[in-house]
Amino acid sequence: MTTGTLEADRVLQKKLCEIVTSKTGIQLPENKRTMIEGRLRKRVRALGVRDLRTYLSMVMNDGMLETELPHIINVMTTNKTDFFREDAHFDYLVRNVLPEHAAGRPFKVWSAASSSGEEAYTTAMVLNEHAKRKPGFTYSIIGTDLSTEVVRKARKGIYTPEEIVDVPDDMQALYLEQGHDSVGRPLSRVVKQLRDRVGFAQMNLMDKVYPVEKNLDVVFLRNVLIYFDEVTQRQVVSSVTDHLKPGGYLFVGHSETSVASDPRLVQKSAAVFRKEA
Ligand SMILES: C[S@@+](CC[C@H](N)C(=O)[O-])C[C@H]1O[C@@H](n2cnc3c(N)ncnc32)[C@H](O)[C@@H]1O
Repeated sequence: MTTGTLEADRVLQKKLCEIVTSKTGIQLPENKRTMIEGRLRKRVRALGVRDLRTYLSMVMNDGMLETELPHIINVMTTNKTDFFREDAHFDYLVRNVLPEHAAGRPFKVWSAASSSGEEAYTTAMVLNEHAKRKPGFTYSIIGTDLSTEVVRKARKGIYTPEEIVDVPDDMQALYLEQGHDSVGRPLSRVVKQLRDRVGFAQMNLMDKVYPVEKNLDVVFLRNVLIYFDEVTQRQVVSSVTDHLKPGGYLFVGHSETSVASDPRLVQKSAAVFRKEA
């Protein structure tokens, strides 16, 4: 292979990355090339294509971009998440946010980059416990994510033993049903009582309008802003804040505190913001 062909492949890959960034906001700089190629190779294997060069050429030159783009976006997203991740946020919710909630209307939460559902189901467990102490308390949770693959997994609510390690034993007993896959490996499923309160949809935070209701009590926007550039971060924080009720709370990832710079937001705790009335 000549230096010229290598260079041509790089140009194609760079163009593809620019398209992905413009659609998703996810930054894919040159210094992440090894990671990017590793992820694109998943598509090479899935389609049984000869190699990455052939795949890039099919996508960029032979009209396959439109059909491949959703798959490329799925492999380009980083979906790492956990139940009870950054658990101080759930303590804050119980101690500070829920006591302020006026009785009579449902408590509404949006997990705005929900990945495979752990954040939304953790919230459901916490809110369900609160409901036991507060008769009449009701809630609804919506989780959205760019990746169609993780949204599919979130809807199922089925997790491996490794994925549920951070769920406390008492919560596991109450909210996870034990089962197994077709070859007998253990799996846990979130109970129907919680699944019925949590809906999931595919949604891009880069969209101008979000098909999510306004006047929400809480939005989790955690560990997704880090993938965006500064302008996109500001835009997304502002658009998401539009969906909070006055007095509603925005939780961002602990490394994202400096990014939540909307003038309507007042910081209340580490990575916790309240929208002022
Ligand atoms: C690292 S996970 C964070 C999951 C969860 N919020 C948490 O903190 O554990 C980041 C998620 O953001 C999603 N994401 C990335 N860009 C997005 C976009 N433009 N719109 C919606 N979701 C996006 C990814 O698909 C991924 O599932």
